[in-house]
Amino acid sequence: MVATMAPMIVTVQQHILEEQKKRSDATGTFSWLLSGITLAAKMVEAKIRSAGLLDVLGSLGQENVQGETQQKLDVYANQALLHCLGMRDSVAALISEENEEPVVLDRDEKSGKYIIVFDPLDGSSNIDVNVNVGTIFSIFRRPDGNKDLNAAILQPGTEQVAAGYVVYGPSTVLVYTVGSGVYGFTLDHTIGAFVLSNPNMRMPDHGSYYSVNEANADSFPAEYQQYLARLRSGGMGRKYSSRYIGSLVADFHRTLLKGGIFLYPPTAKQPGGKLRLLYEANPLAFIAEQAGGMAIHGNGRVLDIQPTGIHQRTPFIVGSCAEVEELQRSFA
Ligand code: AHG
Ligand code: MN
Ligand code: MN
Repeated sequence: MVATMAPMIVTVQQHILEEQKKRSDATGTFSWLLSGITLAAKMVEAKIRSAGLLDVLGSLGQENVQGETQQKLDVYANQALLHCLGMRDSVAALISEENEEPVVLDRDEKSGKYIIVFDPLDGSSNIDVNVNVGTIFSIFRRPDGNKDLNAAILQPGTEQVAAGYVVYGPSTVLVYTVGSGVYGFTLDHTIGAFVLSNPNMRMPDHGSYYSVNEANADSFPAEYQQYLARLRSGGMGRKYSSRYIGSLVADFHRTLLKGGIFLYPPTAKQPGGKLRLLYEANPLAFIAEQAGGMAIHGNGRVLDIQPTGIHQRTPFIVGSCAEVEELQRSFA
């Protein structure tokens, strides 16, 4: 009698190990590190799922370094990531939206090889209304022989060795890249693991949605206003529809799957843009490019920006090549 085999599944852990085997210098450290992120993501997801039943909704009555009201879940998600990653010997420093300064861990240069940057809970103003939120992360290598950790922390996005995000939505999805394509995994609660569901994700060359907070449109620079008018009028050869969730991860995830464009331009209130370079724009720009899309800050590539501060902001435009290139031409 032939035994029936269960269908083959690939967990994120297996996938990372396979990716690492392709590299000659792989030691397994990197997959252990990423397992810290997936563990924290599962902790956050469990808390979010039961948020309506536990006393975890609402604000804490205090502000973070950005002057934004901290939600209880912002703090929980931050602690989960700091805890799960802080235990990994390979982590030299952790940079979080919720911490004013980098959390520097006492590691020697040999073992403390990685710097991890994250937005623990993105879109947290949506949490009380049961709308998708997420976690975004980015990983840099500490350059060999590096003594000045601050210099190692402020690397441009081109130096990222991995980036990813988790969307806590109708299902919980993790998307990541190590610079050789983009892979998506869905959390299977029956086995408690992220299972490969979207191999080799590609952003469509163009799409039918644009995503922007149009309430700010009157104060966008003229190039953006004219571009949005072209999208609305059909001047770009197709009819566009608008979608804006207000959780960057969720707006990005839709753009990755369906194509189109997401924009957070400069505004009168935020002339340098609102979104944060290190833990919002860079990781998503890396994923977008790996999936065949583009990410710009106006007239240049997001990944080329040399950061000067850990919480710096940037205008952020990301999406399919057709839509992003059309906007970029206005700045030429
Ligand atoms: P966070 O919750 O991590 O502070 O991020 C909020 C961000 C982002 O998720 C979203 O794209 C943007 O804020 C929405 O801003 P507006 O409300 O100004 O449109
Ligand atoms: Mn955010
Ligand atoms: Mn956040």
